[in-house]
Amino acid sequence: MTTRASRPDLSVTLAGVHFATPIWTASGTAGTGEEIAAWCDTGKLGGMVTKSVSLEPRPGHPYPRTVETASGMLNAIGLQNKGIEAFIAEELPRLRQMPTRVIVNVVGWAIDEYAALAHRLTREEGIDALEVNLSCPNVSRGIDNGADPGWVGECTAAVRAATTTPIIIKLTPNTHDIASLARAAADHGADAISAINTLVGMAVNHNTFKPRLANITGGLSGPAIKPVALAAVYKIKKAVDIPVIGIGGIMSGTDAAEFLIVGASAVQVGTANFRHPDATTRIADELGAYLQSKGMTRVTDLIGRLEV
Ligand SMILES: Cc1cc2nc3c(=O)[nH]c(=O)nc-3n(C[C@H](O)[C@H](O)[C@H](O)COP(=O)(O)O)c2cc1C
Repeated sequence: MTTRASRPDLSVTLAGVHFATPIWTASGTAGTGEEIAAWCDTGKLGGMVTKSVSLEPRPGHPYPRTVETASGMLNAIGLQNKGIEAFIAEELPRLRQMPTRVIVNVVGWAIDEYAALAHRLTREEGIDALEVNLSCPNVSRGIDNGADPGWVGECTAAVRAATTTPIIIKLTPNTHDIASLARAAADHGADAISAINTLVGMAVNHNTFKPRLANITGGLSGPAIKPVALAAVYKIKKAVDIPVIGIGGIMSGTDAAEFLIVGASAVQVGTANFRHPDATTRIADELGAYLQSKGMTRVTDLIGRLEV
């Protein structure tokens, strides 16, 4: 029988912040925690990443906004949120009470909006890092800017200048060269990179001849995108020296282990939360069991162990 003392140490430190485990929630998939808190011990979570928050409230796209496909999920929520002041007043106090790290994901229409959000959040207690969403595929300018290394560099520099909080730049996979985006972020002051956001996808109803999402196209997530995400982490790790957080289709402890082997220092779990609200804590337990099966006592022994 496993004793508590023999459990592997899952803790990781990145961007100067200590995380109890490398398993975090992914932005937009667990709200601000209360959606999953009834099902899982949030103390076992490394971090809770919030849904993207913008300066002004955003209503989001019309319904239907999500579709299940045979190989993953499509969503076009359109970054619906209450805006930064309501977030600080209503959500942040609840987040601060959670026994986990808090990572606030921010999104803007323009570079000065990103900088203003970073500046505003720096005044608030209880935020361990900012994740800067440069990658949403469901809003008109989301991809064009986020796929341009010049813009990624400029935006990273503006956010860097606006805050002392660690910044994680979240990249889009909807580009032919994700490594150059990562390099631009790293060169302009990013503390870490997270990858990937969703891939542009579409579903059509062959009876009505209509698109299944009101927005017509949306972002594909879930197991279908895991190979794309692993390749992205691999390419980014070769391009930059800062830590990478792997995201995309993680459903199990061994899925998480594969990202760590490729070089991720932590991972985020998204779509799995919709299927199983306890996914994150189960994945943390499974990762521990996997490490034990390999005779490893620390998760850090697994990071970057890829043999090519
Ligand atoms: C319903 C839904 C909403 C999302 N909202 C956001 C968001 O607000 N900001 C963001 O950066 N990513 C958002 N994402 C992307 C996820 O954080 C994650 O990058 C993506 O889903 C891939 O991970 P997964 O395959 O584990 O779901 C959203 C994903 C889904 C499925």
